[in-house]
Amino acid sequence: MQRTFSIIKPDATKRNITGSINKIIEENNLRIVAQKRIQLTNEQAENFYDIHKDKPFFKDLIEYMTSGPVVVQVIQGDNAITKYREVMGATNPDNAKEGTIRKIHALNVQENSVHGSDSEVNAVKEIDFFFNLNEIVG
Ligand code: CMP
Repeated sequence: MQRTFSIIKPDATKRNITGSINKIIEENNLRIVAQKRIQLTNEQAENFYDIHKDKPFFKDLIEYMTSGPVVVQVIQGDNAITKYREVMGATNPDNAKEGTIRKIHALNVQENSVHGSDSEVNAVKEIDFFFNLNEIVG
């Protein structure tokens, strides 16, 4: 059993499709064990995406991630980190496989509806960023 961290991004909360995204997550045998809808501050978004701070898209990314509410989630299951990345599909929806969240819902490479941790180290870090581990019922 493994946990990963997910964000349902502003393009998706705006379009009221968080339920549709959660349905895809659950249909793929992943369990949402914690979630909350929050408005990210600039500081939170900048800290969260610190590894991208030198990328040309960083400023736009922070603007977009703070443009509306997000739903932060902890997702649990066998091999959850890799599994969720498969369920999300490629970062750029043009390259995402049929049936993936991004193929179905993402608008473009930035407004790509969801985020998922890319490694175990980052999953722990990202979950800790938004949740109190003691409060999660697995
Ligand atoms: P995510 O998986 O959350 O990680 C970084 C985010 O930056 C990514 O999803 C996209 O929202 C955004 N992103 C990644 N690559 C690009 C790009 N080439 N242009 C604009 N935004 C990008």
